[in-house]
Amino acid sequence: MMKTRSLNISSGIMKPTTVILIFVFIGLSFIGSGEAANAAYVFGDSFVDTANAGNEFAPYGMTWPGYPSGRASDGRNQADYFAEVFGVPSPIPYQQLKNDSQSVLGVNFGRGGGSVMYAYGHTPLALQVDQLEALLEKGVLTRDYLSNSVALVSIGVNDYGSRNLHGIFQVSAESEELKTFITNVVDGITSNIVRLHRLGIRNIVVANLANMPCSPYVTVDSNFTTCSNNSTITTENSNHNALLEKRMDLLRFELLGANIVILDQTKAFNLLFHNGTNFGFVDPLTPCCYGKDPLDAFACGSKDSEGQPLYTVCEDPTKSVIFDGIHPTQEAWRILYNLYAFGTEFTLGAPNLRSWIRQYTI
Ligand SMILES: *[C@@H]1O[C@H](CO)[C@@H](O)[C@H](O)[C@H]1NC(C)=O
Ligand SMILES: *[C@@H]1O[C@H](CO)[C@@H](O)[C@H](O)[C@H]1NC(C)=O
Ligand SMILES: *[C@@H]1O[C@H](CO)[C@@H](O)[C@H](O)[C@H]1NC(C)=O
Ligand SMILES: *[C@@H]1O[C@H](CO)[C@@H](O)[C@H](O)[C@H]1NC(C)=O
Ligand SMILES: *[C@@H]1O[C@H](CO)[C@@H](O)[C@H](O)[C@H]1NC(C)=O
Repeated sequence: MMKTRSLNISSGIMKPTTVILIFVFIGLSFIGSGEAANAAYVFGDSFVDTANAGNEFAPYGMTWPGYPSGRASDGRNQADYFAEVFGVPSPIPYQQLKNDSQSVLGVNFGRGGGSVMYAYGHTPLALQVDQLEALLEKGVLTRDYLSNSVALVSIGVNDYGSRNLHGIFQVSAESEELKTFITNVVDGITSNIVRLHRLGIRNIVVANLANMPCSPYVTVDSNFTTCSNNSTITTENSNHNALLEKRMDLLRFELLGANIVILDQTKAFNLLFHNGTNFGFVDPLTPCCYGKDPLDAFACGSKDSEGQPLYTVCEDPTKSVIFDGIHPTQEAWRILYNLYAFGTEFTLGAPNLRSWIRQYTI
C-alpha cells in the first residue's frame, strides 16, 4: 500500500503567485483527511495504468519505487494521486487481482495505449467497463458498494494520436471527418459513463484531453522550444474538451444522483508548461528522457541490438514536467493533483475535488 502524504508542494524557489497558491493548499489540506469513498475504480490509458500493460523497463520507475513498476512515469502516476485525494489505496491493476474478492479494494482497469475506438488495438474503454460489469455479475461487487466509491475516466489522447499518424486523416481542421471523429470519441466516453452509472457508480471524475500541442512528441518539431500551433491538433484538443463539457452537463441532468466533475487537464498542464519554473521545473517543455536521435521522442527506454541505450535520461526528474514523449513525471502528477484538489480553476462542475467530495458526502 502507498504511504505518501506528499500532496503539499514543499520546496523550491517560488514566485509570489505560487506562494499564494501554496498557502491555500496547506490551509485546506487538513480538512477531511478520512476516506471519501469505499474504493477507486479507474479507467483509461497510460496516464493511469499501474501495471496492466504499462512500461516494465528502465528508466521507468527510477524515482519510485526504484525499479519499473508498470507505470509510464519515473514514479507514481495519476491513479496513485487520485486515490490519495479520496483517502483510499491506489487501485489494484486488473491483471494483478489475486482473486475476485480483492476488487473491493479498488481496481485499475486502465491500460497503456487504451482508447475509445481501438486506436492501437489495445483494450478499449468499453472492454474496461465490461471487466467491471463482470465483477458485479459475479456478485463480488454490489451496486450499493459502487455508489459509495469513486471512478476516474482518463482517455482519448490515443484516439487522436492514432488518427494523426494515419495519412488519410491528415485533412483540414474544419473537415467533417474531424467533427465526426471528435463526436465519436466524446460520445464513446459519454456512453461508457452512462454504463458506469447503470452499474451503480455515482461519483465520477473525467479528465479532459492532455495538452497535446505542448507534449514533447509534438514539440520535438521545434526542439522543445514552443507549443505547436498546428490547427488540426489545437482543434482536436479544444473541440474535444468543449464537447465533453457539454455532454457531462447533460449527464448531470439526466442521470439520477450522478456527481460528475471534469479535471481540466489541458488548463492544468498549460500552467505547468508555461509557468512551470514557478513550481521548480527547468525547461518545462523539454522531457527528461528522450531519443539520442532528437526527433525520436518515443525512444525512452529503448536499446540497440548491442544493448546500448538509444536514449538519454535527465539526472533529476523532479525538474521535468514530462518524463518521456508524452507522460508526466511523478512531480508533475503530484502538482496537478494539488491543483485539482485545492486550486480554484482546474475542475469543471465543482470548484475543486475537495469541495466536490463535500458535496456528495453530505
Ligand atoms: C484473495 O486474495 C487475498 C490476497 O492474496 C487474500 O488475502 C484473500 O484471502 C483472498 N480471498 C479469497 C476469498 O480467496
Ligand atoms: C498538423 O498536424 C497533422 C497531424 O500530425 C499533420 O497531418 C498536418 O500536416 C499538420 N499541419 C501543418 C500545417 O503542419
Ligand atoms: C536543440 O536544443 C539543444 C539545447 O538547447 C541544442 O543543443 C541542439 O543543438 C538543438 N537541436 C536542434 C536540431 O536545433
Ligand atoms: C505557427 O508556428 C510557426 C513556427 O513555429 C510559425 O512560422 C507560424 O507563423 C505560426 N502560425 C500561426 C498561424 O501562428
Ligand atoms: C504565469 O505567470 C505570469 C506572471 O508570473 C502571469 O501573468 C500569468 O498569468 C501566468 N500564467 C498562467 C497560465 O497562470
